[in-house]
Amino acid sequence: MKGVILAGGLGTRLRPLTLITNKHLLPVYNKPMILYPLETLKRSGITDIMIVTGREHAGHFMQFLGSGREFGVKLSYALQDKNNGGIADALRYAEDFSDGGPIAVILGDNIFEQDFAKDVASFNGGAKVFFKAMNDSHRFGVPVFDTAGKRVVKIEEKPKKPKSKFAQTGFYLYDNDIFSIIKTLKPSGRSELEITDANNAYIKKGKLSYGIIKGLWSDAGTFESLLRVAHEVAKRAV
Ligand code: G1P
Repeated sequence: MKGVILAGGLGTRLRPLTLITNKHLLPVYNKPMILYPLETLKRSGITDIMIVTGREHAGHFMQFLGSGREFGVKLSYALQDKNNGGIADALRYAEDFSDGGPIAVILGDNIFEQDFAKDVASFNGGAKVFFKAMNDSHRFGVPVFDTAGKRVVKIEEKPKKPKSKFAQTGFYLYDNDIFSIIKTLKPSGRSELEITDANNAYIKKGKLSYGIIKGLWSDAGTFESLLRVAHEVAKRAV
């Protein structure tokens, strides 16, 4: 399977750091953020990887990562025309790269301990998303389960009153239908094409499955989360 790292956006919550470079190149403990999702994909057996980013600091990615050879991967790059269109908008740029096949998608600011190798190897179509129990699930996409607590009936994006304690993490497996689904999406209240809406389209077709992940997971898009996850990573490294 091929993989896509979504590393665009303006990173407004991390200004002024993100006026100097892209959020995904900021340090998390001892390395640039982008290496964490890259290694998550590698651990999952994925080495043919596209990085989608905005044009402002695109050169910084290429300067640091190059062809990917020294990191044991093969990299391609895509540049977004606009950098505030949302996750699903960014993913559109990987359609040709996907070459009609399934695709693993990871958000460039998501740091995982989880190993997705089995999920990738056994993926057989539809979409698969990954949830983690959190104390602050309202900050994320939150699944709503049926009364038996098993099937996901929908995912709500940052609900004021979350209907479960689970957060939708930033790792997704999709069949190639994702690209036609994205074309049907309308901008949300925050004027973005939401990955949650794409996932809800899979739920409607009865084609979304999920896993529950363990271990460290964090995004790193705010000063608080960036500092917290750096401490967590450092603790594990010693
Ligand atoms: C995005 C998704 C959200 C998900 C989160 C994981 O949020 O929209 O559903 O829980 O990533 O990091 P955003 O970072 O765009 O606010």
